[in-house]
Amino acid sequence: MLKARGPRSLDGLSVLVSAGPTYEDIDPVRFIGNRSSGRMGFAVAAAAVQAGARVRLVAGPVALATPAGVERIDVRSARQMRDAVVASAADSDIFISAAAVGDYRPQAVSPAKLKKSGKALALELVQNPDILAELAAQAAHPFLVGFAAETNDLEHYAREKLERKGLDLIAANRVGEELGFECSENALLLLWPGGREELGMAEKGVLAKALIERVATLHAAARG
Ligand code: CTP
Ligand code: CA
Repeated sequence: MLKARGPRSLDGLSVLVSAGPTYEDIDPVRFIGNRSSGRMGFAVAAAAVQAGARVRLVAGPVALATPAGVERIDVRSARQMRDAVVASAADSDIFISAAAVGDYRPQAVSPAKLKKSGKALALELVQNPDILAELAAQAAHPFLVGFAAETNDLEHYAREKLERKGLDLIAANRVGEELGFECSENALLLLWPGGREELGMAEKGVLAKALIERVATLHAAARG
């Protein structure tokens, strides 16, 4: 029997989440990628469903099952992720950018497999579009939540990103040896204009729930 539920914090809202790495092809058999399992983003998408939202998830290449109730769009490169996010952002109330978007891609993809030549190989890399910054620059855009993975000076770099990208909230976490990537536990520092909250070491599902509750509170306050 289904239990009657009270009102949930994201009832009636549409949430867009990006997750996982992006892969940038070098040739038909090689790519440059970011280290990201996608677990945090998938947990955030699941938590948003639990909070009553309609959820779309733009996922880079990950080996994860789609959370129940989530509409998933698979992409590979940063530019594909940008196109999918921009197309869905127009009718989203909240965008949570948990993806580890590759900052650079090879200037040209070789149509044939590169052969080793016995000499050093230089790859020319060009910068990818910044998806969050592009949305922030639009006159009407969803409530914007970013992530910042840093090895050092966490709060300083995260606060700087919050301001530089014009975000409503940023979730910062420390990465490095045995922290952040392919593990199920993490700690998050949430920063927003005029506030902060520390979420101590916990399962990603627990952190995702706490993050979603903070997003719901700030979004409701911003909407007035
Ligand atoms: N992001 C994005 N588009 C990019 C790069 C990053 O939307 N091309 C988003 C990420 O999903 C994350 C936030 O921006 O939510 C911060 O990403 P991060 O890599 O920490 O910041 P950068 O601005 O790329 O700065 P840097 O990597 O130099 O620290
Ligand atoms: Ca980056």
